[in-house]
Amino acid sequence: MAFSALPLPNWDCGYDISDYCDVAPEYGTLDDFKTFLNEAHKRYIRVVLDLVLNHTSDEHAWFIESKSSRDNPKADWYVWVDTPPNNWQSCFDGEAWTYAPERNQYYYHYFMKQQPDLNWHNPEVKKAMWDAARFWLDMGVDGFRLDAIGTIFEDPQLTPHTVPMNLAELRRFSELAKTPKEIKLKDKYWFEMFKHQYGKPGVHDLMKELRAILDEYEGDRMLVGEDDDIAYMGNGKDELHLIFNFPLMRTERITPAHIRKNQKERLGALENLPAEKGWPCNTLGNHDCSRIHTRYGDKIHDAELARLNAALVLTLKGTAFLYNGEEIGMTDHMLSDISHVKDTMGSWYYHTIVTEMGVHPEEAMLRTAEMTRDKNRTPMQWSNNPNAGFSPSGVNTWLPVNPNYKDGINVHDQEKNPSSLLQYYKHLLRVRKNSSALKYGEYLPLLNTSKEYFSFLRQSDNQTILVVLNYSEKVLELDFSRTKEIKDSKLRILFTSAERRGGSFAPNFKVGAFEVFIAEVERE
Ligand code: GLC
Repeated sequence: MAFSALPLPNWDCGYDISDYCDVAPEYGTLDDFKTFLNEAHKRYIRVVLDLVLNHTSDEHAWFIESKSSRDNPKADWYVWVDTPPNNWQSCFDGEAWTYAPERNQYYYHYFMKQQPDLNWHNPEVKKAMWDAARFWLDMGVDGFRLDAIGTIFEDPQLTPHTVPMNLAELRRFSELAKTPKEIKLKDKYWFEMFKHQYGKPGVHDLMKELRAILDEYEGDRMLVGEDDDIAYMGNGKDELHLIFNFPLMRTERITPAHIRKNQKERLGALENLPAEKGWPCNTLGNHDCSRIHTRYGDKIHDAELARLNAALVLTLKGTAFLYNGEEIGMTDHMLSDISHVKDTMGSWYYHTIVTEMGVHPEEAMLRTAEMTRDKNRTPMQWSNNPNAGFSPSGVNTWLPVNPNYKDGINVHDQEKNPSSLLQYYKHLLRVRKNSSALKYGEYLPLLNTSKEYFSFLRQSDNQTILVVLNYSEKVLELDFSRTKEIKDSKLRILFTSAERRGGSFAPNFKVGAFEVFIAEVERE
């Protein structure tokens, strides 16, 4: 959720900011925020805000002034042209160039037309944004998640894309793509459509400037970039502290082979930053994609897979990011009524395919429910009370509440149930917190090619931990007695998702179907 400004136009659920130094009234006041920050800090909880650099809201005073004439002081704060110079698309809703009658010119927006791109070539823009960053850092916030950094600069030649269709047609084409050839083509088209609008030079210099600002502050302040390109970590100490390992989640299925390959590539690249090794950062879900439970389930073992995937993120080397609601197993909620859709990208798509492509409204709604991010942004399910305890009974919540809160997918019920997913997360988090190897240790792959399980070691100066994640429904007989770091030692279980006795035992043992097994290698 973006901590944003006053007032919050909400075309993009907080990512259209109209004031960088205030809090939107629906979230309270600046004083409320300060109280929240202090109370969090008292409890050793750090607070990281979302900083949206690429664009503002079209209701931001900067844009209102910029669009008012061609010669106002902020005339050059956004990207203005006399006529659309190319066929670029907005990644959310059609053309990337929108007409502003006040200037008789067009402005550029990578996202919605309510989110005009700032002109980062203008030093005044930079100064204004760095001042905003300082405003929050001075207050004591612990850092920023940097939104969509790849979109900040565009191809200066304004090269047109070569895809033979527009965004709505490409989305439709993608939905209908079934054969490997069609799927390959659609991936190619997505890349081709936006390649001139994304990942252009210039961002590194900005990241260096922002990092230098953070480094002026006391205490550990941090930057995490919403991108997967490790290059944004610079030489390891002069750009971002963290970059999300999005390639880990960019798959239909989490499999041992996928994880192994991902870790090899990712950790290999992080090791090789010129000045200092990079620290990894793993997640499997966020507010922009389908929930872990739904996305990586197989409809039969969803609960088991959700537990395995939680354990994966919490045992791999790196900072773990968990999206709220995953800890109780919230699932995607498919909307069935277009009037409930809040994600503008979704409602635009629905109306476009119905009116321009003649898609039947029922089918269009099914497609929209699938593609909109609303499905994974429904209210947090706190209890078994009406509206899942999120809002009082009778209130229409901002998105419909997923009715499965009545089936135990809520915090209150799971607090009371020792075998709930919530308790499982808490237990795992405790194990992680108390283990130097899991928190800071190196990742040592255990070289095997099993399709069924993924195993690895985490090793710190004083602790070695074996993690086994059985992604299969088979009971497996495993033998680690020839593994250098384990042989001649016994294992002491720290965590298991199966019913098992504690105590020490030899490194050849059985793991149950879908078992998560975490053990410490006992030293002599
Ligand atoms: C990021 C956010 C997404 C938002 C977009 C535009 O990708 O995660 O929610 O819509 O940026 O700000």
